[in-house]
Amino acid sequence: VIAKAGGSVREGTPEDVGALAELRWQAEERDLTGIDRDEFLQHFTRWAGAHLDSHLPFVAEVDGVLVGMAWLALTSRVPHPGLLDRRTGDIQSVYVVPELRNRGVGGALIAAVLREAGRRGLERVTVHSGDRPLPFYRRHGFIDDHHWLQRGP
Ligand SMILES: CC(C)(COP(=O)(O)OP(=O)(O)OC[C@H]1O[C@@H](n2cnc3c(N)ncnc32)[C@H](O)[C@@H]1OP(=O)(O)O)[C@@H](O)C(=O)NCCC(=O)NCCS
Repeated sequence: VIAKAGGSVREGTPEDVGALAELRWQAEERDLTGIDRDEFLQHFTRWAGAHLDSHLPFVAEVDGVLVGMAWLALTSRVPHPGLLDRRTGDIQSVYVVPELRNRGVGGALIAAVLREAGRRGLERVTVHSGDRPLPFYRRHGFIDDHHWLQRGP
């Protein structure tokens, strides 16, 4: 779908960080946070610069403009004797601009993230979903697993 619109999905680079910061600002209910836009963009840019080894951005682009993103956060797991290199992934901050939703852009981003997870041999990929996108993640193979527990603060 995104290819038909002249766009593409690819792994993000350090050059994308400014545009990713803008997308992240757009994606949130920032009126509630009180943080100033420029302050947030600067913080995000510094944070991304320090985290691109562990948090891999994937971007959807049309005519050189970023229209969507999905991040794959990597976590190292304690080695065991049979498996020295163990890592898992967590999908974070999935966002498509409202004008281009429901055309498969988000799906193409998740597919790119899952391909990378496969390439890296991750043991599993998790995601925390809101109610609305649950069918979207289920379509991409995510299942409920009662062994995963979480506890609030
Ligand atoms: C979730 C999201 C990335 C999907 O992007 P997309 O390009 O529309 O994805 P696709 O076209 O591949 O799939 C459409 C599916 O997205 C979900 N969706 C559609 N609109 C949505 C919205 N406003 N918010 C959340 N999910 C939505 C639905 O599950 C839809 O499938 P369905 O109509 O069969 O239920 C996009 O809707 C979005 O940015 N939503 C707001 C942010 C968000 O909820 N992010 C997910 C956090 S876990």
